Amino acid sequence: MKNILVTGGCGFIGTVFVRYVLQDTDFSGRVINVDNLTYAGNPENLTDIESAFGERYEFMKADIGDSSAIESIFQRYNIDAVCHFAAESHVDRSIVAPDAFIQTNICGTFNLLEIARRYSDRLILFHHVSTDEVYGSLDSGGFFTEDSAYRPNSPYSASKAAADHLVRSYWKTYGLPVTISNCSNNYGPFQFPEKLIPLMILNALDDKPLPVYGEGQNVRDWLYVDDHCRAIWEIMKAGTRGATYNIGGRCELANIDTVNRICDLLDDIQPRSDRSSRRDLITFVRDRPGHDLRYAIDCRKIEMELGWSPRESFETGLEKTIRWYLDHPQWVKRVQSGEYLKWVEEQYK
Ligand code: NAD
Ligand code: TYD
Repeated sequence: MKNILVTGGCGFIGTVFVRYVLQDTDFSGRVINVDNLTYAGNPENLTDIESAFGERYEFMKADIGDSSAIESIFQRYNIDAVCHFAAESHVDRSIVAPDAFIQTNICGTFNLLEIARRYSDRLILFHHVSTDEVYGSLDSGGFFTEDSAYRPNSPYSASKAAADHLVRSYWKTYGLPVTISNCSNNYGPFQFPEKLIPLMILNALDDKPLPVYGEGQNVRDWLYVDDHCRAIWEIMKAGTRGATYNIGGRCELANIDTVNRICDLLDDIQPRSDRSSRRDLITFVRDRPGHDLRYAIDCRKIEMELGWSPRESFETGLEKTIRWYLDHPQWVKRVQSGEYLKWVEEQYK
């Protein structure tokens, strides 16, 4: 791989992936980051990378659904590998307004696949980043494996499932060299504060209510974002073409336990002035419609085939995450106030 097209590189996981590949691996080629900068895309996440890596990092503002823009990027940069993160990613938004999820996650992926097919003579790999949510919901027992049936329950997971099927079909039908990864819930630096962990950290720091859906008994399998990015890179280097790999943290927690831990850690690191527990900010609110009860990943395939396993424990990962948000008040301020969006508008008008 010499010229990797990363889609959605200004989002949470894409940002960490671009940083990881350029800073922490022996990759010596070029990363071309294509992102259309929705509310979730923040190019400021990578300004230091832009200065440090010169021509080895390029950013292009484009929609993955724009055929001519994407095709010209394939031509101009001799793209030989794709790592596809770009998506609408928030379940709650998909419930309120599913349209963008269909456009980006399904039609956008289809457009990328079509262009990749046109350049398949030089394409080494199309890696598609997906979610465990395509498998639906578990009750208290069992795990999702790569052979679990697809049973998506939200417009978000249904759109990701559709994209997974399209990617697989391009392997079966056209021989496009693809890999797919289905990962559990990520957390870590740069995550947009609409998702559970950063939302709770920042609300708790501001003494705002911590809205826990339903009774807080829904279970998620948490994975530190660096572990996810390392897994994707291992798949890109050595994954079997046409294969799916499940990636998980072996770290199941009920939401209420996750929120309690965030409160307790914050109380240790930065106690409130009156030393009271932040747990008193927890507020149980109306449940999310169609709320999946439990996700849990069986990741033995990637462990056995590629030698990957998660390195970060939830305790250390959560502490690193909390410290990152505490150490980046400017980032938080610009994201919470929407200032980064104004900057984007100025830059790209
Ligand atoms: P994110 O919402 O933080 O970032 C998505 C990025 O895609 C943003 O930078 C956004 O601007 C960009 N984007 C959106 N629509 C686009 C379009 N039409 N054209 C170009 N760029 C577009 O999401 P994330 O949490 O970083 O997730 C990245 C990928 O990983 C997604 O495909 C998601 O389904 C998958 N995933 C996420 C998690 C998780 O816990 N966050 C878990 C498993 C899988
Ligand atoms: P989220 O971070 O939105 O990820 P996903 O829905 O993709 O799993 O939510 C994680 C869990 O936390 C999920 O069970 C919903 C719950 N949740 C809350 O209880 N309150 C909140 O404010 C949010 C955003 C999520």
